[in-house]
Amino acid sequence: MRITVLGSAAGGGFPQWNCNCRNCAGVRSGQVNARPRTQSSIFVQPDDGLEGVLFNASPDILEQIRSHPTLQPGRALRDTAIAGVILMDGQIDHCTGLFMLRERGTTLPLWCTDPVEEDLTHGNPVLRVLEHYCGVQRHRIALDGAWFEVPGVADLQFRALPLSSKAAPYSPHREQPVPGDNIGISIHDRRSGATAFYAPGLGEITPPVFDAMSGADAVMVDGTFWSDDEMPRMGIGRKTAREIGHLPQSGPGGMLEWLAKLPTATRRLLIHINNTNPILDEDSAERAALTRAGVQVCEDNTSLHL
Ligand code: MLT
Ligand code: MN
Ligand code: ZN
Repeated sequence: MRITVLGSAAGGGFPQWNCNCRNCAGVRSGQVNARPRTQSSIFVQPDDGLEGVLFNASPDILEQIRSHPTLQPGRALRDTAIAGVILMDGQIDHCTGLFMLRERGTTLPLWCTDPVEEDLTHGNPVLRVLEHYCGVQRHRIALDGAWFEVPGVADLQFRALPLSSKAAPYSPHREQPVPGDNIGISIHDRRSGATAFYAPGLGEITPPVFDAMSGADAVMVDGTFWSDDEMPRMGIGRKTAREIGHLPQSGPGGMLEWLAKLPTATRRLLIHINNTNPILDEDSAERAALTRAGVQVCEDNTSLHL
């Protein structure tokens, strides 16, 4: 399979439109050695297939499609390589792009869990609005560990794992999490035998999460924050990383400690990086620490062949 990172930033993107933190101001002025990034999404294709699965539909989807010709195979007057969309949660950065796909000529095949469908039908009724355009053919993602497939994408199969993270702020259960608000996905290629684990919003590494990570050839996991108090310390909001469902990289029990426990051969990548995170600065001490630990920071365009 080929995994293409379409967007490697968390909600807001990088630089964020209204932000003048060191990273955002620095990438604009050129004083910080960092690359701009669009919001959170990956595209996964089987080796010999034109069509693939879009994981999350970011507000930046149109720009992402323009900069990745593989998403527009050009076989017909109206065409797309997106065979279906799988949502990891109902957060704004992962679902707003569904509106941009409204001109689709056929109903949009969409996989999400029940709580996400509920949120996207009521709190933020994207799916209801889309009924006035292409319409959505919604498939339920079960949380029982069953593998599922996406028609048109041969050889790949997918399995969801409920995660401890956070539903979107508009969700009635933002503060009363239910299983399925956020999921991680194992992507298995039957042909190559490889497995990837993708979890852009991951608040806690429970034993089943660590099992899924340990069984993968590559993990692409929550890279939102370096430290738990990153935003409050900068005077941006009051909430810590953990309070909004993201496990920070540094500190006791942080993501780096977990990544260090994985088998040596596992590829370790961080994705969904918030604009405040010092790892965006390629000259930072934090980035150097990741490099020493064998952890890669995803950019828009990073691609993995597994
Ligand atoms: C999150 O994952 O917490 C988000 O990126 C929030 C958002 O999209 O506003
Ligand atoms: Mn997000
Ligand atoms: Zn910023």
